[in-house]
Parts: sequence; structure tokens; C-alpha cells
Amino acid sequence: MFTTASSPAGESSHDPGLGFGRVFTDHLTSMSWTTDGWERPQVRPFHNLSLSPATMVLHYGQAIFEGLKAYPHPDGEIRLFRPELNARRFQLSADRMAMPELPVDDFLDCVSLLVSTDRSQVPDRPGHSLYLRPLMIATEATLGTRPAEEYLFLVIGSPSGPYFNGASPAITVWVSEDLPRAHPGGTGNAKCAGNYAAGMAVQRTAAEHGADQVVFLDAHEHRYLEELGGMNLFLVRQDSRGTTLVTPPLSDTILHGITRASLLTLAADLGLEVEERPITLAEWRDGSDDGSVTESFACGTAAVVTPIGRVRTSAGEFVIGDGTPGEWSARLRTELLAIQEGTTPDRHGWMRVV
Ligand code: PLP
Ligand code: COI
Repeated sequence: MFTTASSPAGESSHDPGLGFGRVFTDHLTSMSWTTDGWERPQVRPFHNLSLSPATMVLHYGQAIFEGLKAYPHPDGEIRLFRPELNARRFQLSADRMAMPELPVDDFLDCVSLLVSTDRSQVPDRPGHSLYLRPLMIATEATLGTRPAEEYLFLVIGSPSGPYFNGASPAITVWVSEDLPRAHPGGTGNAKCAGNYAAGMAVQRTAAEHGADQVVFLDAHEHRYLEELGGMNLFLVRQDSRGTTLVTPPLSDTILHGITRASLLTLAADLGLEVEERPITLAEWRDGSDDGSVTESFACGTAAVVTPIGRVRTSAGEFVIGDGTPGEWSARLRTELLAIQEGTTPDRHGWMRVV
């Protein structure tokens, strides 16, 4: 039995599969924090929370989260993809939002406890996995503006299929030319709820322009590509020297994606030239020197590797290649999924048995 929730806006209603993030497993795991420290992990049936209307997260937004997946492997084990990196990023996000640090081992224990409890609900069908959503919120009920003195850490699990279900093989993106996602010195590299709230107005505009996701530009010059609302961005460039995989450099305005880091490693394994450097919107559209962009894709835990076929801006649309998924996007996606799904050896030691 899965616990169901209503469909998120924009999700196709004809979807015959599980979709993304719409059904939940039977349990959740949790830990509470008070000024005395963390309580022991608990596993309980999935349930609604009861919160005072004065609960601080509802007013001042101390809320952070993570996303990772558990995969059933051919040897019968269930494995997580690089969960210690999620645990460490969760600590970084907590620190930025003045929330308590959760030890890496507690994060991993709560995730593993949920997966082993709801083991039978890890989907065993192609293109599916158990998406795990650890989160922490401020639960103290008071209206003073200061860091809260009570918090709740939870892990919920959602048996899920592709994030962009029903979309054509390549997505369409909308470039946010005026409204940036993050500012230098802000919270862009933290996985905090406010970053997503701040992007919703542009996501609404993107949907009005028939686009699936937003690409954000830098906040200073409004020229450089940063990332998407919920994914990092890669381009494949061809010039007289050959093929190069290019992605914007990490900074405090970009989420340091685990998929991004993994793809940089896999691309090097495949002998592909890799560059982390600033890329302008003009270069994406028009190319530069003797080269042009032949492929583009979004990447992230939910999106895996999702090709981008069309880019819409206030000045009109441009098409990447012939608008369909390119060769390198497909190869990198296949390589990554093979490791995650356990159909090829885990040569980098990325998978962790639950
Ligand atoms: N950028 C943003 C804003 C995200 O929300 C995500 C998703 O987690 C990513 C990038 C990709 O990160 P990861 O590959 O760690 O899932
Ligand atoms: C993830 O990929 O885990 C995210 O949190 C991104 C979100 C758009 C679902």
C-alpha cells in the first residue's frame, strides 16, 4: 500500500506509471532536536504533522532538504547513490540557515532505517527507484525572529518514476533574464526551501511559455548561465579541437550537485574533454570562435540526465542541435544509470548497501 497525495500542478494526468513524488511508503523516520541535542531516531507510520500556527518554519522559513535515491540491484541488495555527500551537503545547508548540525551517521542511519523498513516498496521496474526526501524544519512555536530552539528531522520515501514524465524526449527551458535565483553571499548553494519559493514566480512564467524548467542567469550581469530551478546544466561543444563537455563553475550561487560531480568523473572516464568555466547566454545560442553548442542537458537526482531541446527567451526560441537528445547526453545518462542500477561494476565505490 502506498500513501497518496494529490498531483503537483503541471504533472500530466494521463501518466500510467507512478510519476514523481506523488505516492509515499508506509513509514517515515525522524529525529527531534532541542537545546539538549538530538533524540534517538524513530520509525513510525507515515503521518500528517500537527503544528501550532506559530511554528517558526511557517513564518521565517528555516527549512532545508535533500534528495537521493535507493535502487534495487540484480544481486538482491538495495543500494544508495553517494548518500554521504547528501549528508554533508545537509550540514552545509543547516549551517547557512542557523539550524543544528545533524551528524553524518545519523543522517545515514535514518535513511537506511526507512529503506530497510519499507524494503518491499522499493519499485523494481525499469526507470523507477525509491526517491528519498530528508528534511529539517524549525518546530518551536514563537514569533520572535531568531534561530529556533526546536527542530524536527524527517525522512520520507516516494517510489518514483521519471521527473519529466510525459514530456518529449528533450525538455524545453525558459531563460529568466531579469529575476536571478541566487545572489553572491546569499543562499544559492544551500538546499533551503526559500530558494525554491523564490523561483516559483519564474517557474509560472516558464509554464506560460510552454517550458518545463527555468534556466537562471547570474545576478550581477544577467549574462552568465548558472543552473536550473532544480538541476545543474551541461553543454556539449564542438569546435576544431573536438568535443568538450562544459558546465558553469561552482560558486555560492549554484547548488553543488552530486550528479554534476559524478558526471564530470564519468565524462573523464570516457575520454571526453571537460571544462568548468563561465558560459554566456550568447555563447549557448550563437556559439563562439569556431565552435557551437551541439547538445545541452539538465542533471540532478530527480532529473538524472535530461536532454534540453529548445531554449525560450524574451527574444524568441533557439533549438539545440536538431532538438532531440544528443549522443553524449545519452552516453552519460546510460553510464550513470548503469552504476546506479547495478548493471555495471561500481568502479568508483559510489553505491552503499542499505
Ligand atoms: N540544483 C538545484 C537547484 C537542485 O535542486 C538540484 C537537485 O537536488 C540540483 C542542482 C542537482 O543536485 P543533485 O545532483 O545533488 O541532486
Ligand atoms: C532532486 O533532484 O533531488 C531535487 O531536489 C530537485 C527537485 C526539482 C525535485
